[in-house]
Amino acid sequence: MSIIKNEFEKMNITKIKNAKNKYKLTMITAYDALFANLFEELAHMILVGDSLNMSFAGKKDTLSATLEQMIYHTKAVCNGAKNSFVILDMPFGTYINKDEALKNAVKVYNETNAAAIKIEGGEDKAYIIEHLTKNSIAVMGHIGLMPQYVRSEGGYKVRGKTKEDEVQLIKDARAVEKAGAFALVIEGVKSEVAKKISQSVSIPTIGIGAGKDTDGQVLVWSDMLGFFEEFKPKFVRKYLDGASLVKGAVAQYRQDVEKENFPNKEEEY
Ligand code: KIV
Repeated sequence: MSIIKNEFEKMNITKIKNAKNKYKLTMITAYDALFANLFEELAHMILVGDSLNMSFAGKKDTLSATLEQMIYHTKAVCNGAKNSFVILDMPFGTYINKDEALKNAVKVYNETNAAAIKIEGGEDKAYIIEHLTKNSIAVMGHIGLMPQYVRSEGGYKVRGKTKEDEVQLIKDARAVEKAGAFALVIEGVKSEVAKKISQSVSIPTIGIGAGKDTDGQVLVWSDMLGFFEEFKPKFVRKYLDGASLVKGAVAQYRQDVEKENFPNKEEEY
């Protein structure tokens, strides 16, 4: 497998926007400096997703993530991947109105090196996105299945199954674009609808569970590297069996300790 590191070029919102219809964008989540450093120069963007509340903090959904928590993890990611375009995912309740959203986004820019923030919501949140972008905050939108709506929607539901929903999703995408977002995550949407959404806007769409016709893809690192064992969504491709590798290595370590194979002469002072 070839590693594309030497072709790396630090991204900015102009380059991200210009990628549309030229090349596919790759985004990956990261929550700490160690993994961010491994992903740096491999992915175009690193998202500090509020999914960390589930995979990292062990909570049942993303709703209890706090701004302080997101800032802490974003600082770590920016320390580990100084050349990456890092996006902080604004947690639930931190953009309930435009003033609160701007106050919190400014806090993110003041306290971290994040290049942008991400906000869930379509037409309903366009006025907030517009207020942020008019005040020099770079915003990535997020429509379709929106994990922060899980309790109000009564579950995680794949979107775009009816003509009516398709029309709404296209309206959402256009509203987010008009509000000034530089890119748009489309999550959990029927592939043919995600394709139409991507063709309806001039900003790049980044899909997750939205088929291959978006302008890029995003995956949660712990899902794609096989560390999150509780369940595997249909859209995740497992590029590594991380959990088995880690468990095997730790079991070996324990055996070596028990049999006094570790440490050996070379491993002592
Ligand atoms: O929180 C997250 O990791 C996300 C991605 C799934 C897009 O929002």
